[in-house]
Amino acid sequence: MCGIVGYIGKEPAAPILLGGLKRLEYRGYDSAGICVADGGQLHVAKAKGRLENLSGMTDGGRTLPGTVGIGHTRWATHGEPNDINSHPHLSEDGKIALVHNGIIENYLELREFLERKGVRFTSETDSEVVAQLLEYYYKKTDTVLGALYMVLHRIEGAYALGIVCADAPDRIYAARKDAPLLLGYGEGCNFIASDVTALVQHTREVSYMEDGEVAVVTADGITVLNAMELPVAKPRQHIDWEISAAEKGGYPHFMLKEIMEEPEAMRRAISPRIKDGRLVFDGLQLGRTELENLRNIAVIACGSSYHVGMMGKYNLESLTRIPVEVTLASEFRYCDPIVDERTLAIVISQSGETLDTMAAMREAKARGARILSIVNVVGSSIARESDDVLYTYAGPEIAVATTKAYSTQLAVLDMLGIHMADTLGLLTAERYDALVCALQRLPEQLDAVLADCENIKHFASQYFNHDSVFFIGRNLDYALGLEGSLKLKEISYIHSEAYASGELKHGTISLIEPGTLVVALGTYAPLFDKAMSNVVEVKARGASVLALTTAQQRGQMEKTADAVMTVPDTEPMFLPSLGVVPLQLFAYYVALQRGCDIDKPRNLAKSVTVE
Ligand code: G6P
Repeated sequence: MCGIVGYIGKEPAAPILLGGLKRLEYRGYDSAGICVADGGQLHVAKAKGRLENLSGMTDGGRTLPGTVGIGHTRWATHGEPNDINSHPHLSEDGKIALVHNGIIENYLELREFLERKGVRFTSETDSEVVAQLLEYYYKKTDTVLGALYMVLHRIEGAYALGIVCADAPDRIYAARKDAPLLLGYGEGCNFIASDVTALVQHTREVSYMEDGEVAVVTADGITVLNAMELPVAKPRQHIDWEISAAEKGGYPHFMLKEIMEEPEAMRRAISPRIKDGRLVFDGLQLGRTELENLRNIAVIACGSSYHVGMMGKYNLESLTRIPVEVTLASEFRYCDPIVDERTLAIVISQSGETLDTMAAMREAKARGARILSIVNVVGSSIARESDDVLYTYAGPEIAVATTKAYSTQLAVLDMLGIHMADTLGLLTAERYDALVCALQRLPEQLDAVLADCENIKHFASQYFNHDSVFFIGRNLDYALGLEGSLKLKEISYIHSEAYASGELKHGTISLIEPGTLVVALGTYAPLFDKAMSNVVEVKARGASVLALTTAQQRGQMEKTADAVMTVPDTEPMFLPSLGVVPLQLFAYYVALQRGCDIDKPRNLAKSVTVE
């Protein structure tokens, strides 16, 4: 996700901002920019691509004079990555510069409001709306702080903001809601930043801004105000970790960091798409007539994205009653698929650049299918070539083994299924409301799942020495097993396979012997009793069983399994969104015990651009 840094003091600001942005690079970005206030002048430099471009363009910041400034690394969400869409954004009169991390959900409505007032926009971003709205209110109130509060009352969504104004060049304004922002206290200087990694070189005294707070940062001090504009005393915290650890935001591995980000990523994927209790997909051209005309849905993907598709087969078919076929992209191209103008091809890809997936998408398109993609990387090739694209907003994923991108793909696909079923008139109002309500609870339920991580770590320490592991489950639990098994094998190098439990008796059960580890998935309530029978079957042959079930079914599962992990209860279709997290954590801790290179497993790549 985007990174923010701000500095105010006595030193030239630009080199400090560039240094801070360098430390935020790990968050992933596609462009960067800085703005330095020099008296009543604002100097802005922005560049697409690596920070080196920005640094080169400004001679390491030396061409931008001034001791106050804000900087930003951008991970595009609204508008492709280019110089214009990069931050900082200036208001039309050039007096206000702003950096933003988050998504302004009502930006279209605000943009239209400002355009009606004659304001001209230069970028496609949601963020520029905030800069322009600030200018609009600043002209009315004549105080930046007053204008900022008025803006905060109008914008909806998530934001961390850093602002400088040419008329008040001795201060930086900051505000936060649902996006990280912290304050750093230096000697004769102060800072704002998205995370401490940007600051540890300069100060280790920080305080974390809370939702609704606004900060006014000068070289001599920081004042924090709450949503009622009343001063707040902020407790300071001392950061005592090493700079090298800070590059991963304090986590030992990107994979663990990304797992821990899942509640926030899920929130970003879900909340912009729910308005007044209804699912909304802005710009998606899939009305009742188009849906009724569909003969089939072809889901195309690779790796974990394919597993999301497997899950989608169960959920989409049961919701829409449209036949769904899920095909590995590398197979799809060569299997003469039954695809034509009456096919909707759903293409799933985190990177949006996987070559097999892209080629399969083109094949489907050439046969007349309509292409709807679910993609994380904005402006990627698959996104650009699709008829419709639904972004997952998971933020940059750096670890090769996908975690938060998988979860958000799943949530977006589920939301799409509910939306399609509703459009087709297949859901009662009560059922629709229940599903949307359950969906909205997922982020907080994910927090609860993550709180159990010490238990999962303990199970990993018990089972990490196995050479061979079987994941078993039925229906959604089978699809979940495919992902759990892939996660384990890709980072721990343990041989692992996933089977539909009903298939055990057709072969695999001959491989079960005393001590074999079986990860039994029994979250899916409608088939829980059948899942239990399979646990009994493998136990009878001496297997050690690590089970995953829901809180409600735990007691029953404990009677047979050796160890039990649980997730909170929810609508069955959303259980895999919760269930995948313990499996990701289990794989992570097993790989850790085995001393594997977790973020960069041997022979694997994050984005596979070869066939
Ligand atoms: C690679 C990654 C996997 C990913 C797969 C598909 O193998 O290591 O984590 O699931 O590619 O990638 P995509 O970007 O298309 O989702």
